[in-house]
Amino acid sequence: MDSLDKKTIEILIDKAFDMLNFAYVPYSQYTVGAALLAKNGKIYTGCNIENVSFGGTNCAERTALFKAISEGVKEFKAIAVVGGPQKKITDWCTPCGICRQVLREFCDEDFIFILVKSKTEYKLMTMKEILPESFKPDGEVGATQKL
Ligand code: THU
Repeated sequence: MDSLDKKTIEILIDKAFDMLNFAYVPYSQYTVGAALLAKNGKIYTGCNIENVSFGGTNCAERTALFKAISEGVKEFKAIAVVGGPQKKITDWCTPCGICRQVLREFCDEDFIFILVKSKTEYKLMTMKEILPESFKPDGEVGATQKL
């Protein structure tokens, strides 16, 4: 894939930080923001949205992804993720296993995660690095599979 320039990375980080303000986190108080860059240049943002039935909680990364998918956009370059307790960011917020797998559904192994510690401190990881040996068979599986 074409590499990400610094300006684009900074825009994604800023947008991920902005999303901390919308995180709905009455149970964990742990705010997460994400900004997902599509290959068409559009950016989809997301925050975590918790639920009193805890399993109903949606992570910031999946909120951003589902907004894009539901608008017909299915090809992506990168996602910035930032998180911490009550908007205080002191460490990386590394995406949970479910989000890694759900993003993998639509993203190639060179998709980039921008993990953010502050507006100036971040690290880049590819999908291959963050989710090695991922389950993504070629062709169709499931209901259409002939067993
Ligand atoms: N969370 C995310 O939004 N993204 C992640 O990758 C890790 C976890 C949220 C879920 C929950 O609302 C809170 O952080 C604490 O787990």
